[in-house]
This record gives sequence, structure tokens and C-alpha cells, in this order.
Amino acid sequence: MTRFSPKLLFSVAAFALASAAYANEPAKAAYQGDAAKGKEIAATVCVACHGPDGNSPTSANPKLAGQHAAYLYKQMKNFKADANGKSERVNAIMNGMIAPYGDEQMQDLAAWFASQKQSGGEVKSRETLALGQKLWRAGDASKGLPACAACHGPTGAGVPAQYPRLAGQFAEYTEAQLKAFRVSERGNDPNMMMQMVAVKMTDAEIKAIADYIAGLH
Ligand code: HEC
Ligand code: HEC
Repeated sequence: MTRFSPKLLFSVAAFALASAAYANEPAKAAYQGDAAKGKEIAATVCVACHGPDGNSPTSANPKLAGQHAAYLYKQMKNFKADANGKSERVNAIMNGMIAPYGDEQMQDLAAWFASQKQSGGEVKSRETLALGQKLWRAGDASKGLPACAACHGPTGAGVPAQYPRLAGQFAEYTEAQLKAFRVSERGNDPNMMMQMVAVKMTDAEIKAIADYIAGLH
């Protein structure tokens, strides 16, 4: 049986509360987002860091192009502060960038970036390729680490709506997210699915899998 840190246990309690809150929310009409409207905001605001089509020019900012709309929309909602000024996903830049936008605009933006084609990436370290591939396909049963492919799909294309696309993402970003999940600095993953994965990974494994993922397509 895995042992959790007090911080992780706290997150479990917080998740249970969050789920209860969702259950009481009235059903909203399903708005699917208008990519043309999203494109306008993207071209004037998001372009500075994510490029006009979500293929970010530098690895400091994640690629959004080709990501599932439902995942993009969820992340924007998680970045947006609630009535108490708290955000489920904390990042100083994105917490500020998303603040002006309402629910429909976030769905417009999600529809735009999801409709774009991702540029793809490549493996940089041949030495860690075998380790990355093993972790991706099989995980590591000796320490209960599940295969990434089990949730993110064999090619890293993701499985909408819950499991994001990872393939072709900048290795620097993937590495930073895994390290953030590992210490529960990022805790917006449903049922702590990613925190429970990342907590079992070493720095070397995180580096290897992040590089492998960049080359997936
Ligand atoms: C000043 C730079 C900057 C601008 C402008 C910016 N972003 Fe970001 N964005 C970032 C950074 C940095 C991250 C990574 C945050 C992290 O590490 O958690 C990010 C992450 C995201 C993510 C999460 C991606 C993922 O894979 O989880 C989404 C969605 C996003 N941005 C949407 C937008 C949208 C929509 C706009 C325009 C309204 C925008 N961003 C403008 C820098 C920026
Ligand atoms: C049990 C299912 C599950 C497994 C196994 C899993 N993931 Fe995830 N992963 C998720 C979910 C769900 C999310 C979305 C979290 C959210 O909504 O913010 C996610 C998100 C991520 C993200 C953030 C993506 C982004 O754009 O910010 C990365 C990186 C990631 N996973 C990497 C991995 C790696 C590497 C492995 C294998 C070592 C792995 N995952 C195994 C379920 C899983």
C-alpha cells in the first residue's frame, strides 16, 4: 500500500469537497465555443507567448495547438481565480492572462487552439530514449508506476475529454509539470491521478520521459 504525505491527504479531502460543490452546480447549457472569436483574442493577446496558432515559439511556453478543447478549457478555468481570489492551478503569468475572460471566451479560445495543427518536436537525448520508451509503454511495476500510455494513449495523442495530448510538447514544459505534480505544487488533476504518478518518479526518469514525449507523434 502506498503511503501518502499529509499534503497529499489534504488534497484528497480538498478534492472530495470540490466534487461535492460540483454536484450542487445547476446544469449549464452546453456552449461549444466559436473558433473564429477565439482566433481574434489569440492574435492580439496569447500570440505574444503561444504564437498565433498555439505553436509557441520558445520552450518557455507550452504548445496549445492540437490540444483537446475540453482540456484547454479546464486549464483556463483552473487558472482563473474564484470569488476568493484562489486559483486551482497557480501560475503567476497565466492567472493574470486569463483574468479578463469569461466562460464563453475561454471556450472560444479552447476551440481555436484545438483546431490548429501542432508543430511536433524531436528527441534530443539518444542515451535516455530506451528508458523513456519503457516508462511510456510499461511504467515500472517494481514501484507501482503505471504506463503513461495507459491514460494518454499509445501515441500520446491523449483521450478526450479528460486525458490531454502530450506528444510533441516541449520537454522543458513536460519536465516542469511532472516536478510540480510531484510536490503537489500543481494539484488540479482529477483524483490526483498525476500526483500519484509523479511522486513515484526520480529526476532522471522525469527527464527521460519528457524527452521521449517531445519526439512522439
Ligand atoms: C506572457 C506569456 C503568456 C501569455 C501572453 C499567455 N500565456 Fe498561456 N501560458 C504561459 C505559460 C508560461 C504557461 C505555463 C504555465 C505553467 O507552467 O503552469 C502557459 C500555459 C497555458 C495553458 C495550459 C497549457 C497546458 O498544456 O496545460 C493554457 C490553456 C494557456 N496558457 C492559454 C493561454 C491563453 C488562452 C492566452 C491568451 C488569452 C495565454 N495563454 C496567454 C504564458 C503565457
Ligand atoms: C491514471 C491516468 C494517468 C496516468 C497513468 C498518467 N497520466 Fe498524465 N495526466 C492524467 C490526467 C487526468 C491529466 C490532466 C490533469 C488536469 O486536468 O490538469 C494528466 C496530465 C499530464 C501532464 C500535464 C499536461 C499539460 O499539458 O500540462 C503531463 C506532463 C503528464 N500528464 C505526463 C504523464 C506521464 C509522463 C505519465 C507516465 C509516467 C503520465 N502522465 C501518466 C492522467 C494520467
